[in-house]
Amino acid sequence: MPAPVWWVFLLMCAALEGWQAMAGSLPPPCDSHIYCTGELLRQVQRARLFRDDKDFVDMPLRSNPDVVLKQFEELMNATPGGALSKLQLAQFVEAHFFPPGQELESWTPPDWTDSIPLLKRISDEKLRFWARVLNAKWKELGRRVNPDVQTSPWRYSLIYVPNPVIVPGGRFREYYYWDSFWILGGLLVSNMTATAKGLIQNFLYLVSKFGHVPNGGRVYYERRSQPPLLTLMMESYLSHTNDTEFLRKNIHLLEAEYHFWQDHRTVNISVGGKQYSLNHYNVQVGEPRPESYMKDVELAMGLEEEAQQSLWAELQSAAESGWDFSSRWFLPGFPSLQDPLQDTQVRGIVPVDLNAILCKVEQLLATFYQVLGHGEKASRFWAARRQRGAALTAVLWNEEAGVWLDYRFLHQRHNPAFYLSNISPLWAECDVDLPRAEKVLSYLEESSALSYANGLPTSLTRTGQQWDFPNAWAPLQHMVIIGLAKSSSPRARELAFSLAQRWLQMNLAVYKKHGGMFEKYDVEGDGKPGGGGEYPVQEGFGWTNGVALQLLDLYGEQLTAASALCSPTWLCIGACLILILVSQLPGLLGDGPFPWEG
Ligand SMILES: *[C@@H]1O[C@H](CO)[C@@H](O)[C@H](O)[C@H]1NC(C)=O
Ligand SMILES: *[C@@H]1O[C@H](CO)[C@@H](O)[C@H](O)[C@H]1NC(C)=O
Ligand SMILES: *[C@@H]1O[C@H](CO)[C@@H](O)[C@H](O)[C@H]1NC(C)=O
Repeated sequence: MPAPVWWVFLLMCAALEGWQAMAGSLPPPCDSHIYCTGELLRQVQRARLFRDDKDFVDMPLRSNPDVVLKQFEELMNATPGGALSKLQLAQFVEAHFFPPGQELESWTPPDWTDSIPLLKRISDEKLRFWARVLNAKWKELGRRVNPDVQTSPWRYSLIYVPNPVIVPGGRFREYYYWDSFWILGGLLVSNMTATAKGLIQNFLYLVSKFGHVPNGGRVYYERRSQPPLLTLMMESYLSHTNDTEFLRKNIHLLEAEYHFWQDHRTVNISVGGKQYSLNHYNVQVGEPRPESYMKDVELAMGLEEEAQQSLWAELQSAAESGWDFSSRWFLPGFPSLQDPLQDTQVRGIVPVDLNAILCKVEQLLATFYQVLGHGEKASRFWAARRQRGAALTAVLWNEEAGVWLDYRFLHQRHNPAFYLSNISPLWAECDVDLPRAEKVLSYLEESSALSYANGLPTSLTRTGQQWDFPNAWAPLQHMVIIGLAKSSSPRARELAFSLAQRWLQMNLAVYKKHGGMFEKYDVEGDGKPGGGGEYPVQEGFGWTNGVALQLLDLYGEQLTAASALCSPTWLCIGACLILILVSQLPGLLGDGPFPWEG
């Protein structure tokens, strides 16, 4: 090409780029004109053909997308105004789509066994029986991807992965990223190392394909991730198997995922004249979430186009955090608007848990490289971890509160509210020393979070959102319990055990009463599934089962299934009361023989 042609070409590109920037146009969740963007999706979801918007975008196509789109266009052209009736849309969907989720088939993991070593270590008979039930749940949650998804991916919203998966359950019929960390921990307790390795291989495959791990196994999750726990999954797997060869072959992918977060999810924060680099959730997608389409459309109603796109980017960033939705992400002073979700602002916050996780990732990558004999890489990651620790202290640690707090950098202020995520550096062993651990313990003890018999609430703010009071989530219980259990303070370790005991007793009570394991629970009342948020509570449930098995593994010898009212303290008090009563009885009844002694 002669030089002038190059120039014209470059100018055109620059103009296009500039135009896009001016229009502030953010891309859709993925490029599919069936599942992520376009008129068919818009009309079907707006007609509310399905009770759950997720159903439509989980339906496989009967023919290729270009055929379906062409027929849809013809139908629109033949309809005055182009807007199809609900009946027409229903008929079109029926004719061109299979029912949702057909591409996932039930699968019994071949390494599943009924006689797991854990059972021998649980002393309480009821808990032992229940652990059997939990172990058997892996067979209900195992799925195999139909081979056609690999050969004709364009007909599916499911993202192909090479190995079978364990799904959370309910509407979450595909694999999810951060759920899988606690699922994997449970699989390892069940000695299902081959299944666990398969899950990790799937996520490594996704990193090789996308550069990051998508939120879940659907194309509409493709441009957002979830809390980056893949490197921690590798650690869990290695501690059970010592499979250093697997690590050697794949460490470059773990590092690639780390770089994704460093390249696309970083902010520079200035505090006390110094600059610190930390991470935030930040999804650059400017259209509604296809799986919650109408909710997002309604929330953005009446906004200018740019504000709409910005709101949708915030909602997807909340989904990336795993905490969708929560007062954690609401602007200070909510609710200023009709629906506080309109006040969601995730991208302007440096979250404690994300940075704790990445701190752990840096520590693990340093350790892994050391084990593999790459000294130079190891020292680079040790340095990154040191910087992260300093940044946590400077930006997130709040001496007055005695804990780390999310930092709203747009307002240059901490969010003072109580969230279990504030404690996560304890679990990640990042930026902690003994005095600090003691302070964090006091933070927990002085909050009212410990006063609920059914577990730790996510926050102390009642908003109707699912990541707030009164909901309790298994992964957050696990994070706090493990964080306390690792402490050198005996008080913290005692608390860890009593929290585990409480959580398992509640899980078991709800299991008996409602016949299932749930995605979340309610800390209030006498034990029941949680509520709130965008959809009904789901049963299954991957991470709840995984956490229960891991806590049984940790404390199996000491745990009891008896209800909280029969704890040793209460038994003791009860016995005393009875003794006192019995000692007073003769006086109360006079000197005569007891009536029942005839
Ligand atoms: C765990 O599974 C491995 C095979 O994956 C097997 O070799 C081992 O014996 C099992 N351990 C126990 C305690 O069952
Ligand atoms: C793992 O392997 C290392 C050396 O390769 C060895 O020192 C260690 O004891 C092994 N651990 C387990 C749990 O097998
Ligand atoms: C943060 O600052 C560094 C060094 O000044 C710079 O290279 C980097 O691009 C900045 N990152 C962001 C996200 O602004």
